[in-house]
Amino acid sequence: MLQNIDRILEEIRQFQADSREEVEQFRIKYLGKKGVLADLFKEFRQVPAEEKKEFGQKINRLKQFISERIEEMLDHVSREYEESAMVDLTLPGPPLQLGTRHPISIIRNQIIEIFARLGFTISEGPEIEDDWHVFTALNFPPEHPAKDMQDTFFIEKDPDILLRTQTSSVQVRVMERQPPPIRTISPGRVFRNEAISARAHCIFHQVEGLYIDENVSFADLMQTLLYFAREIFGEQIETRLRPSYFPFTEPSAEMDISCQICGGKGCNVCKYTGWLEILGCGMVDPNVLEFTGIDPEKYGGYAFGMGIERVAMLKYQVRDLRLYFENDIRFLKQFQSAY
Ligand code: DAH
Repeated sequence: MLQNIDRILEEIRQFQADSREEVEQFRIKYLGKKGVLADLFKEFRQVPAEEKKEFGQKINRLKQFISERIEEMLDHVSREYEESAMVDLTLPGPPLQLGTRHPISIIRNQIIEIFARLGFTISEGPEIEDDWHVFTALNFPPEHPAKDMQDTFFIEKDPDILLRTQTSSVQVRVMERQPPPIRTISPGRVFRNEAISARAHCIFHQVEGLYIDENVSFADLMQTLLYFAREIFGEQIETRLRPSYFPFTEPSAEMDISCQICGGKGCNVCKYTGWLEILGCGMVDPNVLEFTGIDPEKYGGYAFGMGIERVAMLKYQVRDLRLYFENDIRFLKQFQSAY
């Protein structure tokens, strides 16, 4: 009998509950009405008187031990529960993925900022334009090939309505509504009916510049563009102007910058010339001034236009235009900027 109690003690010592239910089952098994302890008390009645004292003490100690074990196990399971449910609300959350600006936006903002320093304002115009603002007022003759369906997206129902092919259209709008002096740039999206390739896209971005006042000279234009090139590409950049032709400027020129890849020595990027074309420019044709209601005898000025993708390609050395439009986040997140 006494040995039996020792065995029960050992059993209780070994037992470990993993949940409240198990502790409860344990309590019922040992302390319940028909439990182990109740049986022992029954047996106790038959124990001879001389053994009663020892036996009684053992049962009482066992009973106490069972109670202690129950307390202990309840404590253990409730702590485990709390730990599993514990959330530290003071911990910092998972880091947010911050977006980056699109490279075209970065370059556009940089261009705007540079010209803003020179006092240029920003003007905008509609992307869906009419023939007058995109071509006619810019001195394009009616049969000019740029108007060809191959280059320009026309609205089928009305050939007078089209998607602008150049932001030069904004020049016209500004000159029509604002008397000189005018000093403005017009960043925006343009559209051309081109097959998409690494070098051409049907949608791209331009920044147009316009300066109209009395006594504006070609030297003013050159100095402005040189300042711009140095600001955007760095002090080491060299520029040159080549004579060119645009219907809305006379004389017209294209500006090249020295090739940053070979430093002007010649490589396959600059086609071994050492130079890369970055923009078109010239003195505003008197016809354009007249068309827009500005007196060409009194006023004159310069204009220039550049492709934002082109500047971005030269600056970032990314030579597939399509990358700028595919919105592949692995490409886009490489461009960090304060702009
Ligand atoms: N609009 C011309 C183009 O899309 C670019 C350009 C050239 C704009 C000369 C000008 C300029 O204002 O003077 O190719």
